[in-house]
This record gives sequence, structure tokens and C-alpha cells, in this order.
Amino acid sequence: MPSTALAAIAALPIADLKSIFTTDPDRLSKLVLSQGPIRFDWSKTHLTDELMVHYLDLAQDQGFATRRDALFAGEAVNNTEGRAAEHTAERGEGNADSVAQAKALHNRMRALIDAIEAGALGEIRHILHIGIGGSALGPKLIVDALDGDGVRYDVGIVSNVDGTALERAIEGFDPHTTLIAIASKTFTTSETLLNAASAINWMVEGGVEDPYGRVIALTAAPDKAIEWGVDETRILPFAESVGGRYSLWSSIGFPAALALGWDAFESLLEGAAEMDRHFRLSAPNENIPLIAAFVDQYYSRVMHCQTRALFAYDERLALLPSYLQQLEMESNGKAVQLDGSPVDGPTAAITWGGVGTDAQHAVFQLLHQGTILSPVEFIASIEPGHALDPAHHRALLVNCFAQGAALMRGKDNDADPARAYPGNRPSTTILLEDVTPHALGALIAFYEHRTFANAVLMGINPFDQFGVELGKEIAKSIEADGAKGFDPSTMALIELALGE
Ligand code: F6P
Repeated sequence: MPSTALAAIAALPIADLKSIFTTDPDRLSKLVLSQGPIRFDWSKTHLTDELMVHYLDLAQDQGFATRRDALFAGEAVNNTEGRAAEHTAERGEGNADSVAQAKALHNRMRALIDAIEAGALGEIRHILHIGIGGSALGPKLIVDALDGDGVRYDVGIVSNVDGTALERAIEGFDPHTTLIAIASKTFTTSETLLNAASAINWMVEGGVEDPYGRVIALTAAPDKAIEWGVDETRILPFAESVGGRYSLWSSIGFPAALALGWDAFESLLEGAAEMDRHFRLSAPNENIPLIAAFVDQYYSRVMHCQTRALFAYDERLALLPSYLQQLEMESNGKAVQLDGSPVDGPTAAITWGGVGTDAQHAVFQLLHQGTILSPVEFIASIEPGHALDPAHHRALLVNCFAQGAALMRGKDNDADPARAYPGNRPSTTILLEDVTPHALGALIAFYEHRTFANAVLMGINPFDQFGVELGKEIAKSIEADGAKGFDPSTMALIELALGE
């Protein structure tokens, strides 16, 4: 138990952000770190020199370096499932055998993409990607963020079992020129398989003679995909050791690689690999994901913040908050430590957010004056994503930076308390040079490693997700045997809505 470091952290007075640049004028040089095209600024958070010292001790007590090395070595860091977590191998960083295997599988994906581009599957204009959770959120984020002039296909990414989602996605798609990519690590996820079956029906009804001829499977369970009807030659496997929410770098990234081009996909991987090397090789006191985790730990465990808000001041990154919700909440929303004992404090905060400046006119009221304290993360890009009047981008960035300053500074108004702002509210600013594949790869890898670093500091396993199973089991049992035996509320709902 790393109680000494935690006790020392808890005993320190909480700094006041309103005067923090006066009490600590060198903050900017200490708390702004850059890695490749991304600049991270924690100077408007409550992190102080003293806290940093104790968090570095905590990291050491929790075996940070050892657990990080185990992650990259391909050891079974996912202890409850007895397997490795090898997303970094997809980017070329990690256990040599796993890196070689990932490379071979990427080559297979590239060969299939080349064949598709050469017309092997006939004319393709639309890509219908079907998957859920980690099998959809990553590709969706990447395609949406980088969907610039280079995109050569319409991409529809469908996850929800609600048929409206599929219906909307295929609206405007021609079944004769659509490629279906079924993305499922396990190839057992009921929503995905039902959507895939309906997509095949849509093709059949549209007069496609051999609908399975244009179906690709992206999976770690090739046998199941074959059993389902996908031809072996169109299966793009990935390793079992790549977790679902860490899988966009594997064949799950297929729609991005096809739509954006292989060079863009490689550049995404290389950006992530640079962040991997930074995380693996940097000393703890200059390790960006680890320092971000110190800040997270301070707000959730010392200042009892139950949420962390994240606003992308860039439309290209509009899907980043929902991507990070899965990454952070599915990874660290846990109640037990590695040895199975209960955790000694809160784990993952609730990640939420949206885009600026929209959010300023919707939820920022609470952030400035509400009684709940939530640290805020701003993400912006120096370069705009459009060619309109530069006034747009200037206004966007000015607003972003103004919000951080306002949260920190606040404003007194003794005469009219309703118009007073308490200030002393923390924010982090992450500034990208531009939203390129390389920068986006590095940014996502930063979040992955930050999530892992948080898990290490709390002594938990971020790589399992048993919490999602019970609901699935109950849904299955209701499908099979009806609601009999359930509570009266559930039975009444089923009777009313399903007539059973
Ligand atoms: O239910 C949660 C989950 O297992 C996620 O972790 C995963 O990303 C998602 O479902 C989809 O799983 P699969 O890729 O196996 O269809």
C-alpha cells in the first residue's frame, strides 16, 4: 500500500489557481511539455512542485516502471484474463514476435486494400462498417477527423442494434457498389451480427447476386467469421491480445485505411509509435501520460471530482469525447485492485464533453458557477480544418483560451452574487499543430497511456471489462425464456412493449 505518498498528498494544502502564477512564476516552464506536434499545458491545474514529488513517489511505490515494461514486453498485464495488452505492437512497439505478427497482418490488410482498389471486388463506392464499442468508435473517430479532400468512399459506420441506425447509414448507398466490413473482435456480439445479417438482406433485396462476395471480416476470431459465412480470403485477423477499445490500430482500422489511404493509416500508426516511445523511455518527471495521470488522480481522489470534461475546439475532433468515454470508463471503471481486494478510493471519473464553442452556450454555465467541480480539458489545433475566412479559426481559438482563463481567474461581485464567478477552476490545454493522421495517432496513444498510468497509480487492471457482461446475460436470458422470474418492473415493461 503506497499510503505514505498518498498521505503526504492528502496533507498538502490545496493551491489557489487565482494566485498560482504569482506564487509559482515558473509554472509555464515546468508544466508545459511538448511531444512531437502536441503541446500539453497543465499550468492551470492545481499540480504543484510538492504534489509532483509525492506523485512521483506514488508511481514508484506502485511499480510504474515495471508495469510499463511488462506492458511493452507483451506480458500478461491483463491478469484477470491472463493475457497481454498488445496495442502498441500494432504500431511497431513491443514484443518482437508480436510486432512481427502485427506487421504481417497489416501487410495482409494492405494487400486486400490494394486488390479492392484494383477492382477485385467490383466497383466499390460505399463502405458499410458494422461493429460496436471499440469495433466502431475508433474507425468512426479517425474517418470523421481526417475525412478531408482525400476520402474516396462514402463511409457509413453502424453500431446500434436500433434498425434506424442501419437504415440511415444505407440511405443513399447502392447495394451493388457497397462493401460490408463486419468488425467484431469476438465475432459473437449480438448487435453486430444482427446488423450484419440485415445488411446482407438489404443486398439480396437490392438484387446483388453474391452478397457475401463483398463482405470483409475484421476479427480476432477468424473461425467464427468463416462459420458465419465470410470467405477466408476476406478475413482480416488481428491478435487476441489487442483489446477491443485499443483496436483501431489493427484491422479494425480497415475503413480508415481504405478510405483515407494506406499512407494516412501508416502515418497514424507512426504518430502513435512516437508517443509509445516517449511513454516507454521518458523519465517519470517528464513523462507526459504519467503527469496527466497525476493530475487526474489529484482531482478524482483528493478533490473528489466525479467527472472530467473534455471539449474539442475543433469540429474534426467532435467524436473524441465519445471515443474517450469508452477508453477511460471501460478501462478504469473498476472496483477491485489487481489482487481482487476493493479499491481504496474512486477510480475512473465520468468522462464527458463536446465541442467548443457550442458547449459554451449549453453546459459551461455549470462549469463556471455550478457547485460541482469538474476539471476541464481543452483540445485545439493551431491550423484550421477549413479554408474559410481565418476569422473563424481565430474566434474559435480565442474562445477556447478565454474559457481556460475565465475558469481559473473568476470574477468577484459582492454586490450581486448571481454575477460572481468563483474561479480557481482547473483546466488543461492540449494544442495540436494540426489534425493530421500523425498528430491524431499520437493524441490517441497519449490517452491510452494516460489511462494505463492511472490504472497503475490505483493498482487496478484497465484491460478487462466484466462489468458489461451481466446486462448481456440478462438480455440473452429474456430473449430465450422471456421475463418470467424477473422483478415486476421488468416483467411489466416487457409485457407492455413486447406483448410477451
Ligand atoms: O461489451 C463491451 C465490448 O466487449 C467492448 O469492450 C468491445 O469493444 C465491444 O463490446 C465489441 O466487441 P466485439 O468487437 O467483440 O464485437
